[in-house]
Amino acid sequence: MTAALQFDAIVLGAGAAGLMCALTAGQRGRRVLLLDHADKVGAKILISGGGRCNFTNLDVRPDRFLSNNPHFAKSALARYTQHDFIALVERHGIAYHEKTLGQLFCDGSARQIVALLLAECERGAVDVRTGHAITAIEKPDQFRVTTSGGAFTAPNLVLATGGPAIPKMGATGFAYDVARQFGLAVIPPRPALVPLTAADALLDVCRPLAGVALDTIASCGNAQFREAMLFTHRGVSGPAILQISSYWQRCESLTLDLAPGLDLAALLKDRKQSRPKIELHTALGEVMPARAAQAFAAMLNSAGTVGTLSDKAIDGIAATLHAWRIAPSGTEGFAKAEVTAGGIDTAALSSKSMAARSVPGLYCIGEAVDVTGWLGGYNFQWAWSSGWCAGMSL
Ligand code: FDA
Repeated sequence: MTAALQFDAIVLGAGAAGLMCALTAGQRGRRVLLLDHADKVGAKILISGGGRCNFTNLDVRPDRFLSNNPHFAKSALARYTQHDFIALVERHGIAYHEKTLGQLFCDGSARQIVALLLAECERGAVDVRTGHAITAIEKPDQFRVTTSGGAFTAPNLVLATGGPAIPKMGATGFAYDVARQFGLAVIPPRPALVPLTAADALLDVCRPLAGVALDTIASCGNAQFREAMLFTHRGVSGPAILQISSYWQRCESLTLDLAPGLDLAALLKDRKQSRPKIELHTALGEVMPARAAQAFAAMLNSAGTVGTLSDKAIDGIAATLHAWRIAPSGTEGFAKAEVTAGGIDTAALSSKSMAARSVPGLYCIGEAVDVTGWLGGYNFQWAWSSGWCAGMSL
């Protein structure tokens, strides 16, 4: 066996969580090695938020995270909050703005966030090594990580290699394999924050409307989101759909309110009196884009003017459009998912330190763990919070 370089901690994965963990531990005087198989660090940070990185959210709350254990994320989110990360961003002089719904983005570029993290790693003397394919992990006494660039040993190992969302960016299920190797359970991973696909009659409605966006309330079970939805050539997308997709299970239906906050029946009955000669699609066009109004009037089989509609028919039309039930055929999969739901089971982890209780020195953080945030900066906040907690414990 070749001589291995010795560290206090080896962090696998130089994404958001791994960088935060490494810089935190390094600044506490630990000798930290941060390893990644990719050629550059923070690839997902760089493409996030359309290149401006939605780095956190002003309204981070535990109920905005999905997990088999909905309480698990509370401690980490409370110990390292959005305000801690915002203070770090401000210390680095990075200008930012709130776009909508508490979502904070860089004014300039996501590159500034990666530069911040690397500068903080340098302050902590973290040894950052990219382009290292990991070939084996053993734990005879301490952890021994064998890579294409040599072998390394440490008493602590942090799994921060994310989940399989967007495999073409180098995302893998590697963390799950290592977790299983050490006897940790994995909640079946599934694509989340992902466009939904349609088939048959639903696809016939969606495809001609590709590119049309409208305000909607998307509901599934107890979850509900009011944001824009977008029709696509394959089904539905847009923020409202991405959000609800995390709660949607195959074979379930979704309910879409296509005229949120309006009394559509009252509006149509008013038009029946005031403008009886207009067609239904013209009246619907007052509350949604013309192409959508045309398509829904056709779907409702309503030819003719609003003046010819009975009040009962109007009530039926309004009820359908306020609660359009659709049964998606599936999702666009990990190739198009912004995050992975499921992952390393939190039951085996300390919610304070992210340490695996049954394997001394093993930690799991970030997206690899079964904690998934809403769209809007929540997933990076989970990466910062869980990474910081592990870094403070190493
Ligand atoms: P992350 O995936 O960032 O990092 C894992 C690292 O491990 C990578 O560097 C990878 O190369 C490395 N790795 C993987 N397998 C390995 C292996 N076998 N060996 C060695 N290294 C390995 N969230 C948010 O809050 N705001 C936003 O604006 C966005 N925007 C966004 C856009 C897009 C297109 C995507 C795909 C995702 C987002 N997200 C987001 C989600 C966010 O990017 C995600 O939740 C975090 O990056 C997760 O951080 P992690 O560090 O856990 O994993």
